[in-house]
Amino acid sequence: MEYGFLGYRSTFMLDFVVSALVLIVPLLLFSLYSVKLKRNFSLHKKLQIVLGAVLLVAVTAFEIDVQIMHGGWQNIVNQREIPLTPEQFNFARNVLYVHLVFAVSTPLFWATTLFLALKRIPNPPAPCAHSKLHQKLGWISTIDITLTSLTGLYWYYVAFVASA
Ligand code: HEM
Repeated sequence: MEYGFLGYRSTFMLDFVVSALVLIVPLLLFSLYSVKLKRNFSLHKKLQIVLGAVLLVAVTAFEIDVQIMHGGWQNIVNQREIPLTPEQFNFARNVLYVHLVFAVSTPLFWATTLFLALKRIPNPPAPCAHSKLHQKLGWISTIDITLTSLTGLYWYYVAFVASA
């Protein structure tokens, strides 16, 4: 397939990651609802591991596609039918930099939260001495992935959808 499946001159993998970013937020909210209101710790654990695996696969495939297959995001944006003006191009670059702050820190927080939870929380999962730190790391990871998602979607809009 030459372009993405969302109807813009993007790539298949870029559209795949954008779709994953949209799906991740409601799944994460459901996981937090399970643990906070339903106290279903096992379901929360399973969902968080699945979300982590999906993120890892999506980000790896995405980086291979953008960096190796297309030689950078600029080449993908240049596929547009109506090219971006230099101002629009610079704006897209700045939005991307903001997005990268969250996109780089999220996997670090996510991996730390997951690693410590698997190591320190008993099996089957239940509140324990690690709960306080886990809640802190968990909320940081949650806010970080949400901001990754929002800024990533905004970048996609600026780069491919606006004035297309
Ligand atoms: C990156 C992955 C994870 C994230 C982002 C995450 C996020 C969270 C958050 C935000 C809370 C606090 C909810 C509240 O305010 O009450 C929480 C609670 C909890 N999580 Fe996770 N979690 C993750 C992985 C895990 C894993 C792998 C386990 C099990 C091994 C686990 C077990 C628990 C338990 C038992 C609680 C309840 C703690 C308590 O209230 O005492 N979590 N999680």
